[in-house]
Amino acid sequence: MRIDVVTLFPEFVQGCAGIGVIGRAQERGLLQVQTWNPRDYATDNYRRVDERPFGGGPGMVMLIDPLRAALTAARTAAPAPVRIAYMSPQGTRLTQDKVVELAQRERLILLCGRYEGVDERLLQHEVDEEISIGDYVLSGGELAAAVLIDAIGRLQEGALNDVQSAQQDSFADGLLDCPHYTRPEAHELGKVPDVLTSGDHAAIRRWRRKQSLGRTWVRRPDLLTGVELKVEDKKLLLEFQEDIKK
Ligand code: ADE
Repeated sequence: MRIDVVTLFPEFVQGCAGIGVIGRAQERGLLQVQTWNPRDYATDNYRRVDERPFGGGPGMVMLIDPLRAALTAARTAAPAPVRIAYMSPQGTRLTQDKVVELAQRERLILLCGRYEGVDERLLQHEVDEEISIGDYVLSGGELAAAVLIDAIGRLQEGALNDVQSAQQDSFADGLLDCPHYTRPEAHELGKVPDVLTSGDHAAIRRWRRKQSLGRTWVRRPDLLTGVELKVEDKKLLLEFQEDIKK
């Protein structure tokens, strides 16, 4: 997959995309992240990329033409059809389902705004969708783009060393993840639940599913309204509710 990012801070995005799982995915040729700086496409002597807003008010608004030229350069750099997403708090809230959908595409262009935002006409004519990573305001779209690149990149086949990792993620099946433990088995902070060291794989699977259901019920009950629980899951959740009463 190829992701092009239009940003005034290319080093920032490249830095984030160059480390850990995503850096490795790039090294393995599973993902390519390319950046385009609108300042390189500004045509005046000052290389202006922003101006004061019509109608007055605080801050600056990003100019249409440098952004449009950078988007065109990104779009024409590779032949596959591409979707253009603007990272913005006004966008549709990002979910794991959306990440899975985007991860299946061959190409994606992410547009990062700075200052008060981007001239609305550019958004109307050049952008396919707006994506928000949450109900809070960042000083620019770069961190949001880095979040999206990370979430998409780790789903590329071969990016995670263990394929089961992604299948067991929180949200992969609409539920939160279960708790995890490693060595030592006994520690002053507590003991690992017996079932995990029992070697009984069916019991371990059952315990993990129960914890997943229970945690989701406690922490994010809103997620449970979106899933139809099977009879066995309902039983496990009831057991969890009984367990915590004890
Ligand atoms: N840019 C600024 N805030 C943002 C947010 N919450 N999500 C996506 N892009 C943003």
